[in-house]
Amino acid sequence: MNIAIDGPAGAGKSTIARRVAAELGSIYVDTGAMYRAMALYMIKNGVDAEDPAAIERTCEDAEISIRYQDGMQHVYLNGEDVTGQLRTEEVGNMASKSSACRRVREKLVELQQKLAETTSVVMDGRDIGTVVLPKAELKIYLTASAHTRALRRFQELAEKAKESEDENAVLPDLAEIEKDIEERDYRDMHRENSPLMQAEDAVVVDSSDLTIEEVTNCILKLAAQRKHTS
Ligand code: DC
Repeated sequence: MNIAIDGPAGAGKSTIARRVAAELGSIYVDTGAMYRAMALYMIKNGVDAEDPAAIERTCEDAEISIRYQDGMQHVYLNGEDVTGQLRTEEVGNMASKSSACRRVREKLVELQQKLAETTSVVMDGRDIGTVVLPKAELKIYLTASAHTRALRRFQELAEKAKESEDENAVLPDLAEIEKDIEERDYRDMHRENSPLMQAEDAVVVDSSDLTIEEVTNCILKLAAQRKHTS
């Protein structure tokens, strides 16, 4: 059984998808990490985020692959494990731009479809239900208000700053994070190639007022129903 989970940044897709996959014994595929690895390659090569032709050209030299170690997804960029370098704001912002390029998407969609061919996956992203796995047995569109998503990101960053014990660590600015999220949503939803949108047959789950457990259980329930009816 393949499960597609799409939705905007910060809706909790990866946390939820990882839990659902663990419960079902499926493999969790984080497609955002693949777009981030491609973005990292652009940054390392000094590519201008506003130059789509340069992005299209440069992506031809980036070989992205995935391996699983102790059940955890590791992303390799030209043979180097870059998993630990992907979750920064800089990489996220570049990914939002470079993922709009047709050739970047072609390369990564092919990799994603191959992964789902031979094994049951829970895959999260923006175009999984619409483009990558249009025949997925269950499609979820996981969303939350921009303010809720900004607040979650703010708390995550504040926690990180506290843990770093660096006296000079700059505290994040909630209004700025919310603005960033709104801009990224707009770009993801309005790009020409595979914009973020709800698949016609997707079930919408709004996580604004739900806990992680509640959302996970809701999806597991839907998956069990689909299994019975298929
Ligand atoms: O989910 P994330 O924040 O790790 O994704 C990073 C960027 O990659 C995001 O701006 C949109 C893009 N992305 C995409 O276009 N298609 C996907 N299937 C997954 C992510």
